[in-house]
Amino acid sequence: MIKFKMDASFFVILALISSVFAGKHDIYSRHAVYGVELRDQDDVATLFNLQQKLNVDIWQHGMARVRDAEVMVSPEQSKEFFETLDNNGLKYYLKIEDVSKVLKEHEEDLAKWRRNRSNRMIFQDYPRYAEVNQYMEEIAARYPNLVTLVNAGKSFEGRDIKYLKISTTNFEDPRKPVYFMDAMMHAREWVTTPVTIYSVFRLVENLRDDERDLLEDIDWIILPIVNPDGYEFSHTDDRLWRRTRSVNLEVSTTCFGVDPNRNFDVDFNTLGVSSDPCSQTYPGVAPFSEAETRIIRDIFLKYLPRIQLYNDIHSHGNYVLFGFGNNTLTPNVAQLHHVAAAMGAAMDAVKLPEAGYYLIGNSGLVLYKTSGCGQDYGQHIGVPFSLTMELPGYGYSFRVPPSFIDHINEETWKGIAISARISKIHYRSRVGR
Ligand SMILES: *[C@@H]1O[C@H](CO)[C@@H](O)[C@H](O)[C@H]1NC(C)=O
Ligand SMILES: *[C@@H]1O[C@H](CO)[C@@H](O)[C@H](O)[C@H]1NC(C)=O
Repeated sequence: MIKFKMDASFFVILALISSVFAGKHDIYSRHAVYGVELRDQDDVATLFNLQQKLNVDIWQHGMARVRDAEVMVSPEQSKEFFETLDNNGLKYYLKIEDVSKVLKEHEEDLAKWRRNRSNRMIFQDYPRYAEVNQYMEEIAARYPNLVTLVNAGKSFEGRDIKYLKISTTNFEDPRKPVYFMDAMMHAREWVTTPVTIYSVFRLVENLRDDERDLLEDIDWIILPIVNPDGYEFSHTDDRLWRRTRSVNLEVSTTCFGVDPNRNFDVDFNTLGVSSDPCSQTYPGVAPFSEAETRIIRDIFLKYLPRIQLYNDIHSHGNYVLFGFGNNTLTPNVAQLHHVAAAMGAAMDAVKLPEAGYYLIGNSGLVLYKTSGCGQDYGQHIGVPFSLTMELPGYGYSFRVPPSFIDHINEETWKGIAISARISKIHYRSRVGR
């Protein structure tokens, strides 16, 4: 009898859990994703205007004649979407018929992967915020002479945003450049955080003999989750959430958060932004209105003279990009291009056949014009190499199957390693040592 009762409540709980899961992705029921062929910059502009006007969600911006754009369209948006594309002679094709269905499949895939994990490492999965914090605490405790855990401040909802400092000289040797990388500024870009944790692993727990220089000659700042509120929300409520979760009732009572990568104080609110607080590219009411971007700013300001390279890791599309988002090139563009191209080449050399080659260049010229992004802010205040990476999506966009994570970690580490070495050379000639 007792046993039966236990079983019954077990099934009730199970049913409750699965109904929560079943419901979560229904917000994207009958949302479709279209590939759009881009012939020239006019087509890019047409798509951008559609985003402004209709709030369609651009999953991938594409590049004229090289890479198609990917756009998610709700049932309400579809009529005007098709009309605008037809009127402008743009070709498009259906990629995903029902986004809610593929999100459910992705979630089941992840659950299977997790059930099967036995002795998998944390960076071979999509770890939650608490798991990442726990890993950072453990590694700092185990390697106190090498690793320092810093609590940089709180997110809007009060989560601690933490980073690791990795150094053989306690960050006290001014002859060493600082390499600053962060990930998960955009919540739905789940594959970015594992790459940062894998980098910690390679530097601290699994240092190879031929990579001793990376640990000994360089100081590292590694921040795995810039936007923990958005990231947790993308797990619990909305898999495609991109923005922060800040509430500003004077601006909107229904749409929360801003695009953190439009919120930095550089050409704020000028290009590639929408004034609609519900848009994916809403920059916020003022530069640094968000706790999360203020934390990145403060890291820049604290270590600025020594930061040689800032690597802001995003997903997806296989790009290494640099500023400025208004198409203006920096005086050191030749060196900047060299670093980015070396990264692309190192990663392409080990790429999977199903991935595109890395495209390298100015973010405005290669992709689309933007303002207020972290990459531009770093460049603007004096970081010599300020980069945005877009990791591979393998045609799965934000839903990269977990079986690809290992490869992305390995491949991206090759790009990180070479950019760190080039940074060292340039830093030494910059500071005259
Ligand atoms: C579980 O792990 C085993 C052994 O590593 C592997 O053969 C199998 O394909 C995995 N199953 C899933 C669903 O990932
Ligand atoms: C582009 O942005 C940079 C960084 O803010 C600025 O220095 C430059 O003057 C801008 N270029 C133009 C043409 O506005």
